[in-house]
Amino acid sequence: MKKSVTVLDILAKKGKEKITMVTSYDFTMTRIIDASDIDIILVGDSAGVVMAGGKNTLGITMDQMIYHTKCVTKAEPASLVVGDMPFMSYQSSIAQAVSNAGRFLQEGGAQAVKLEGGKRVLHQVAAIAAADIPVMGHLGLTPQSIHAFGGHKVQGRGKQAAKLLLENALALQEAGIFALVLECVPTDVAKQVTKALKIPSIGIGAGQHCDGQVLVIQDLLGMFKEFKPKFVKKYANLFDDIKAALDTYAKEVRSGRFPDEAHSFKE
Ligand code: KIV
Repeated sequence: MKKSVTVLDILAKKGKEKITMVTSYDFTMTRIIDASDIDIILVGDSAGVVMAGGKNTLGITMDQMIYHTKCVTKAEPASLVVGDMPFMSYQSSIAQAVSNAGRFLQEGGAQAVKLEGGKRVLHQVAAIAAADIPVMGHLGLTPQSIHAFGGHKVQGRGKQAAKLLLENALALQEAGIFALVLECVPTDVAKQVTKALKIPSIGIGAGQHCDGQVLVIQDLLGMFKEFKPKFVKKYANLFDDIKAALDTYAKEVRSGRFPDEAHSFKE
């Protein structure tokens, strides 16, 4: 039996061993992930896009995120499960942030939560951490700020922006996060932030110097044809593999080859 990964294990990996993180939103995929060697499963609000077909992550609700988190934790993975706090579940007040973070642990069965933003959410981060709920930060291209950013753009470019990113990272660390996602940030900026932090950084489109990496599982497995961000590496081509299996199934049903005797019951 695999040993469960804890927040302390993640912290201890800094400078020693790279951290691996992928997203998952359901029981079946989580079972497969758990059979592999992945440290952290993020129940990302990207579920609103890859599971629900939304144009961005803004539409997914707390109840929907709790549903996906439950589906993941039902598989009882050894990986650390982090629930992603959706848009408007922590921005309006500290009390709202703490109670919604608590729902991820109490109802969802997660071990930690993630939220987006820097200095503007410091009070929320500190209050969640003070309730003994481990918090992961997220800086750079934070998808919930897509309209404020004016699109999917690399963040932290230029001296001033890089300085601000570093200040936000250090402030989040001070507020009590145990790890920090850096999304779509120039490699050198991510390297500088990673070096300055005591806690691990986890990059997505942030180069090779981060303490770990995260990818959306459907991107990693090549389940989409039309959309491929520069930072995604496809480790499989499941779109083509699944389509080929379905075409073969349809052909065999139409020709009468399936079901054969081996897949039928005798009296
Ligand atoms: O929701 C998500 O999938 C994420 C990752 C891209 C870090 O936040």
